[in-house]
Amino acid sequence: MAKVLLIDDEVTMVQIVTELLRNEGHEVFPFSNFTAAMEGLEALSPELVITDLYLDKARAHGLEVLQKARTLNPPATVIVITGFGTIETAVDAMKNGAYDYVEKPFQVDELKLCIQRALSYNEAVSENVYLRKQLKKKYQFNQIVGNSPQMQDVFKMIERVASSDSTVLVRGESGTGKELVARALHFNSNRQFAPFIPINCSALPESLLESELFGHRKGAFTGAINDKRGLFQEADGGTIYLDEIGSMSPTLQARLLRVLQEKEVRRVGDNVPSYVNVRVLAATHEPLEEKIKQGLFREDLYYRLNVISVHLPSLRERREDIPLLVMHFLKNKMHAPSGKSFQLTEKVMDVLCEHDWPGNVRELENALERATVLCDAGMVKVADLPPVLRNLP
Ligand SMILES: Nc1ncnc2c1ncn2[C@@H]1O[C@H](COP(=O)(O)OP(=O)(O)OP(=O)(O)O)[C@@H](O)[C@H]1O
Ligand SMILES: [Mg+2]
Repeated sequence: MAKVLLIDDEVTMVQIVTELLRNEGHEVFPFSNFTAAMEGLEALSPELVITDLYLDKARAHGLEVLQKARTLNPPATVIVITGFGTIETAVDAMKNGAYDYVEKPFQVDELKLCIQRALSYNEAVSENVYLRKQLKKKYQFNQIVGNSPQMQDVFKMIERVASSDSTVLVRGESGTGKELVARALHFNSNRQFAPFIPINCSALPESLLESELFGHRKGAFTGAINDKRGLFQEADGGTIYLDEIGSMSPTLQARLLRVLQEKEVRRVGDNVPSYVNVRVLAATHEPLEEKIKQGLFREDLYYRLNVISVHLPSLRERREDIPLLVMHFLKNKMHAPSGKSFQLTEKVMDVLCEHDWPGNVRELENALERATVLCDAGMVKVADLPPVLRNLP
């Protein structure tokens, strides 16, 4: 289903094409007035625009529509419709980024085919953008830094379990790199070209989280104005990463168990399940065993999730990695983007190695970012570190 904006001054034409598109399941916004259409373009961000080239004899409005449609983010794909004697302008339109043109009078099938091609072209383009984005992120994994024996164990574990389909529970304090590990698992598996979808279970109220994860049917509750696919479906073929799994409500825990056992998801308001092939990775900074004792976490779900668990050590348990991480962040996250290079005084490195880092690697990264912004002439001094590191309130 695509969002299509349609512009033509011939009312019957608009009616025919609108009906055609709606029959194919698309969401159509028909316009016969140029100014209104230009406004609609901006407000609706359609994926496909079908526009008549001349809305009156004197002015090639279609070219203006095209221009604007191409500047949207993401740019809309444009098909122009040309009347008799306007082929040259249509060629102009193609040069300016129109996907295709159709000449009036046309057969319905001809237009249908053209639309189908434009939409699959669209899909290929967005897939491409998506893959490129993911690849960029993948780059980070080769960049899980750590020489300590504890981190070496983590690397071995990632290698061993990445290619399997088992559920993995990633444990560790906040900021220890749980999400980084989850991404490494996904991108070193044969699911790597399908989506990796992270979601933080503690960030949304129960009912919202439920419809995010499982989707809903139109009308399932107030505000459900459209059918919505859930993240499990979006992640089909790939991996879903459930962060802060310990804060999931008992109802949702039961539904998740069902996904894990039966591979089936049911949208809110739907009786018919659909089947998904998703690998589930979960993370927690809390001891789930305690939650089980308190009756807040289902034991059966715990066993399902905890088939394999990876424990990430806190930074203070592996201080030998601190200099390595510091160099890594300075080189890859601070030098590269700013084009400047930074150095630390010896004293700064001492302070960094002695700090307890309750926020772990994330806290270290943030401290360095702050210091490199504040420092003079690329030399980071103790005074540039956050107050807690200088024993100040
Ligand atoms: N071993 C590591 N090497 C390089 N960077 C790391 C490492 N561990 C963590 N980081 C960086 O630290 C930041 C926090 O990592 P991440 O988000 O994976 O932690 P988390 O355990 O999921 O944290 P939270 O519990 O707060 O969600 C990220 O910017 C990540 O790139
Ligand atoms: Mg995280």
